[in-house]
Amino acid sequence: MSSVFITMICITEEAAADRCKKYADQVLLVSMDGFRYDYPEKTPTPNFDKMARNGVRAQYVNNTFLTKTFPTHYSIVTGLYDESHGIVGNTMYDPQFDEIFTLASKETKWWDSGEPIWITARKHGLTSGTMFWPGSEVEIQGMYANKWYNYDKSITFDQRIDIVINMLKHDKFNFVTTYFHEPDRTGHIYGPNSPEIVEKITEMDTLLGTLLDKLTANGLQNKVNLILTSDHGMTEIDCENKLLDIYNLVDKSLIERTVDSGPIMHVVPNVGQGDTILNAINNHPHFTAYRKADIPDRWHYKNNRRVMPIFVVSDEGWSITENATAIRLNPGKGNHGYDNDLMSMKPIFYAMGPNFRSNFLAPPLRSVDIYTLVCELLGISPSPNNGTLDNTADLLQPFNNDQQICDGAISFTSGRLSLLSWILSVVVMVMT
Ligand SMILES: *[C@@H]1O[C@H](CO)[C@@H](O)[C@H](O)[C@H]1NC(C)=O
Ligand SMILES: *[C@@H]1O[C@H](CO)[C@@H](O)[C@H](O)[C@H]1NC(C)=O
Ligand SMILES: *[C@@H]1O[C@H](CO)[C@@H](O)[C@H](O)[C@H]1NC(C)=O
Ligand SMILES: [Zn+2]
Repeated sequence: MSSVFITMICITEEAAADRCKKYADQVLLVSMDGFRYDYPEKTPTPNFDKMARNGVRAQYVNNTFLTKTFPTHYSIVTGLYDESHGIVGNTMYDPQFDEIFTLASKETKWWDSGEPIWITARKHGLTSGTMFWPGSEVEIQGMYANKWYNYDKSITFDQRIDIVINMLKHDKFNFVTTYFHEPDRTGHIYGPNSPEIVEKITEMDTLLGTLLDKLTANGLQNKVNLILTSDHGMTEIDCENKLLDIYNLVDKSLIERTVDSGPIMHVVPNVGQGDTILNAINNHPHFTAYRKADIPDRWHYKNNRRVMPIFVVSDEGWSITENATAIRLNPGKGNHGYDNDLMSMKPIFYAMGPNFRSNFLAPPLRSVDIYTLVCELLGISPSPNNGTLDNTADLLQPFNNDQQICDGAISFTSGRLSLLSWILSVVVMVMT
C-alpha cells in the first residue's frame, strides 16, 4: 500500500520538475550579424578554424525568409517561420493596429506570437540572460530574461564578452545570448567583395579568439555549449544601375501605401488597381510582384496579416524604392533581404563544447532547427515550433542513456523500461 503511494508522489514531483540532464548545464548563443557562410574562406581565420576543429561547422544555414535582421534573429530563437512569429520585416505595417513597426518597437503586441528560448527556459524553471538579441527588450508572456540590456551600440564588443562571461560564471544562467552588429555594417557600406570586409572578418576572428580564451580562462569550456551563427549573408548592390523607383513604373495615384524597400517591397493598391500594379512591375525583367496568395509556400511567409496584398521581390543585387533620389544620396555597396535560396544569403554555423562532436563538418541545417537543439541541450521541452532535431542530432556526441540525470528521480524520456525499473527499485526500497 505505502509503496504505491510513494511512487505516485515521486512521479508527480518529476512531472513538475520537467527536466532531464543529459548535457552540460549552459548554452551560449552568439550572433555575428551578416556573417556570410563563406566569409571564413576569404582570409585566415584561426579562431573559426579552432571551433571547427574542436567542434562542429555546418556547411551553411538554410535561413528563413525575409533575410533581414529582425525576422531571421527571431526565427533562430523561436524556431518559427516569419508567418508564425509575426516579425515579417525590420519595417512592417499591421492593418489591425494601423501602426508601423520599426526597429525601436518594443510593445509586446508585435512580438508575442513567438516564444524565444530565454522565455522557454524560464518557464521550465531555468535562468537566462541576454546581452542583446532582437526581441530581448520586449516583455513576452509577462517575462523577460533574468538579465537583459537595452540595445546600445556603444557597449563595445569586448565589454559584451565580459558581460556574457559574467552571466555564465557568476549568475550561472543556463541560457545566454549575445549579438555583434558586425560584419553586417561593413558589408552594407563597402560590399561583401571589398578589402574592408576582409579586414572586418579578421577583426571578428580575433574577437572570437577573445571569447574562446575567456571561456577557458574562467573554467567554462567544459560547462558551456557554445553556438555561433548569423542571421543572413550579404550581396553586392548597385544603386546607380540596379535601382527601380516604383513611381517610374506605377502612377502614384494607384497606390495607397508602400512598406519597406530594397530587396523587397509590400504594396497596398488603391481599390481596383491591383492588377495594373502587378502587371507594371512584372513587365520589368528584374522584379517579381506576387499577389499575397501566390507568394511561394517555401518562404513560409504569406500567412500573416502583416504581409500586404502585393509583395515585390527584387532579383539579387537589384533594389526597389519609393524615392531613388534619397537612396542615391547615401548609396551602400551591399545588402540582404533577397530570396533565402541564394547562396549569398546563407549564414555561418559553428558549435563547440562538452556535448558537441569535434572536427565534424555537418551538412546544412535550418535556422529554425536551432531552437529545438538548444531546448534539447537544456533538457527542456520546446514550445510548438517549425524545427526538428533530425537535422542537428548528428552534431551532438553519441549519448549514453545511463548518463542521464533527472531533477526529480526518473526520466519520462528515457523510456518505459527505466520507469519500470525505477518503480521496482522504490518498491524494493520501501519494502526493505
Ligand atoms: C526624396 O528624397 C529627397 C532627398 O531626401 C527629398 O528631398 C525628396 O523630397 C523626396 N521625395 C519624395 C517624393 O518624398
Ligand atoms: C538546405 O538547402 C539546400 C539547398 O537549397 C538543400 O539542398 C538542403 O536539403 C537544405 N537542407 C535542409 C536541412 O533543409
Ligand atoms: C510552424 O509552427 C507553428 C507552431 O506550431 C504552426 O502553427 C505552423 O503551422 C507551422 N508551420 C508549418 C509550415 O508547419
Ligand atoms: Zn542582420
